[in-house]
Amino acid sequence: MKISVIGTGYVGLVTGVCLTDVGHQVTCIDIDEKKIESMKKGHSPIYEPGLDELMKKNIKAGRLYFTSDYASGVKDAEVVVIAVGTPQSKDGSADLQYLEKACRSIAQSLQNDTVVVTKSTVPVGTNEYVAKVIRENVVNDVQVTVASNPEFLREGSAIYDTFNGDRIIIGAEDDETLATVARIYQGFDMTIVKTDLRSAEMIKYASNAFLATKISFINELSNVCEQLGANIENVAEGMGMDQRIGNKFLNAGVGYGGSCFPKDTQALLSIGRNVGVNMPIIQSVIETNDKQQRIIVDKIKHRFTDLTTKKIAVLGLAFKPNTDDMRDAPSIKVVRELVDAGAEVHAYDPIASENAKVYLPGATIYHDSIEEALADKDFVVIMTDWPEFKDYSIENYSRLLKQPVIFDGRNCYSLADANQADLEYHSIGRPTVNQKE
Ligand code: UDX
Repeated sequence: MKISVIGTGYVGLVTGVCLTDVGHQVTCIDIDEKKIESMKKGHSPIYEPGLDELMKKNIKAGRLYFTSDYASGVKDAEVVVIAVGTPQSKDGSADLQYLEKACRSIAQSLQNDTVVVTKSTVPVGTNEYVAKVIRENVVNDVQVTVASNPEFLREGSAIYDTFNGDRIIIGAEDDETLATVARIYQGFDMTIVKTDLRSAEMIKYASNAFLATKISFINELSNVCEQLGANIENVAEGMGMDQRIGNKFLNAGVGYGGSCFPKDTQALLSIGRNVGVNMPIIQSVIETNDKQQRIIVDKIKHRFTDLTTKKIAVLGLAFKPNTDDMRDAPSIKVVRELVDAGAEVHAYDPIASENAKVYLPGATIYHDSIEEALADKDFVVIMTDWPEFKDYSIENYSRLLKQPVIFDGRNCYSLADANQADLEYHSIGRPTVNQKE
């Protein structure tokens, strides 16, 4: 099929590239000309494992094109996929200005009957608005129908998720449109769920809010476990064995970040508010998440009352491993707090340091390796569960740090290993090992 994808962020670019890999001809459109020129050469503007290789392969095969010109990019597409950003407005709702601009540009460029598919996460009812804006602005005599096809990919494993997700959700007003969108996914071995437009839009928010709820739930429990001497990992394992609960997304830590959970939970609150429905569960999920970073800072301040003389190593800045994304990363709040308390922060992240500089201006000294970050620092705080950290022998900390004290915000090490290494080890929801003071 001939498909155009509008917007080359995570969702748009990964979707476009993966669709070429199953044989479709895809044109990716973005208003950022510099980005387009670089993508034409097979360079992805985002860090995503495997993406550059897949781009180069499909550009070479003549299936993947990039342009900043809507008219040529959209004119003969059977399906146009909208994947522009829907950032958070000041009031928490989704900002739809980029979506609206995309709709107007699509309308002016269409020359054939087309299905317009929205992949961007948009409030319930938005697809009907998309249809209205496009139909009001078309310049040629063309029929446009719309579909909602929300995306569930995770950063860092976006390509794997695109081909191996749990389901494909398609919402539309009529069977023909549903069938056209389903044809895009013919080469995918995934269950397709066909539903109405509004339910499809809601499934996306409901899924992200539920996953965020699982995380805040386990984090809240972890705080009780700490007080009671229970171990949250054992608790999560025991709970997760109940298939009704499931064992995923029960890792306690310093809270969720990223481009989706913080924004989508706020947007869901705003969706509820607009129709007069309060959502106290979602509200407290957000509050619990915000508190998780405060809690690790308090632990540090309780242990070391004066931070003004301290050099602190911070391992991990990205909101999760395998990404350089710093949006709403828990590390931002923690590093700022430590710096505000007078500490000198020395950070190492395998790939997110460049992006971190934008979020933590002047606050941090960046290093090129774990060893460099740890050397001669007073203690360490782990903020991201990068495999590189988990594989790094815990024995090394005593050798490199001035005081062998670890605050592990992602439970990267086992208590037994910490004990054996004779380290003072504070983690999340588990008993502290070798507490000295
Ligand atoms: C998420 C959803 O998983 C995906 O389906 C949706 O399309 C976009 O949002 P993403 O933000 O890329 O994906 O990352 P994810 O792996 O879900 O992690 C989100 C945050 O939750 C990270 O900060 C992670 O560290 C945290 N997390 C995750 C936990 O704290 N505990 C867990 O058990 C799982």
